[in-house]
Amino acid sequence: MRIAVIGGTGVYDPQILNDIRQEHVTTPYGEVDVMVGTYRDKEVAFLARHGTDHSVPPHLVNYRANITALKKLGVRNIIATAAVGSLNKAMKPGDMVFVDQFLDFTKSRAQTFFEGGPDGVVHIDMTEPYCPELRELLFNAAYDLRMRAHLGGTYACTEGPRFETPAEINMIRQLGGDLVGMTGVPEVVLAREAEICYATVTMVTNYAAGLQANRLTHEEVVEMMRTNTENLRRLIMHTIAAIDPERTCICQWAVSGPVQPVKE
Ligand code: HPA
Repeated sequence: MRIAVIGGTGVYDPQILNDIRQEHVTTPYGEVDVMVGTYRDKEVAFLARHGTDHSVPPHLVNYRANITALKKLGVRNIIATAAVGSLNKAMKPGDMVFVDQFLDFTKSRAQTFFEGGPDGVVHIDMTEPYCPELRELLFNAAYDLRMRAHLGGTYACTEGPRFETPAEINMIRQLGGDLVGMTGVPEVVLAREAEICYATVTMVTNYAAGLQANRLTHEEVVEMMRTNTENLRRLIMHTIAAIDPERTCICQWAVSGPVQPVKE
């Protein structure tokens, strides 16, 4: 299968896929359960990032096992979802943002498949960390479906699992961050190292700490995701319908291919 969805907070259910079965994939990093189903004759893998019961916190997600499992299944395109807080007044709760850059404030996560020795040393290019073609497909789907969406934005990944302090949010804003979440990195980096096209649909669930009147709760994030799950599902299905499963892209030669010019 060529297409996978990594469901973040609030997106645990492969929903409208047909003929769903579970695949248990063994990787050098651990075991991974992936649901596999079909949508319009395309096989699609679905992986709940936090487990189906939200039992794995962001800093303990086994990102390397997840990406390796999808690679082993033959996946070439990943659409990931992520709940985010917004630091940008134009990106409102309920909006989707197809981010194009990230800032990394994580601290304790394995960031690479290439640990030296037999794995080698690789310094992966991150000029365009999210696949520009998948982002465009997502944006076109949002446009077709008349959903509020932004093509581009800078995602800041914090370590969590706590929310940020207002001082941290102020710092991130000064550094150019539009959105803040806890799971985007290193997932996006590992996908590129695995030569898989990867794009994230971020769903704004709240204004970040200090920018809204009330204190943040996980429940409010989950509730906002619940309200918008149907929109996310429709967007993802519309995008999957538009993906040519056999499409190729420069992301798929990120390690093995020649250096590529940045697209105009
Ligand atoms: N901060 C970090 N992660 C989040 C937030 C936030 O405000 N909202 C949803 N995920």
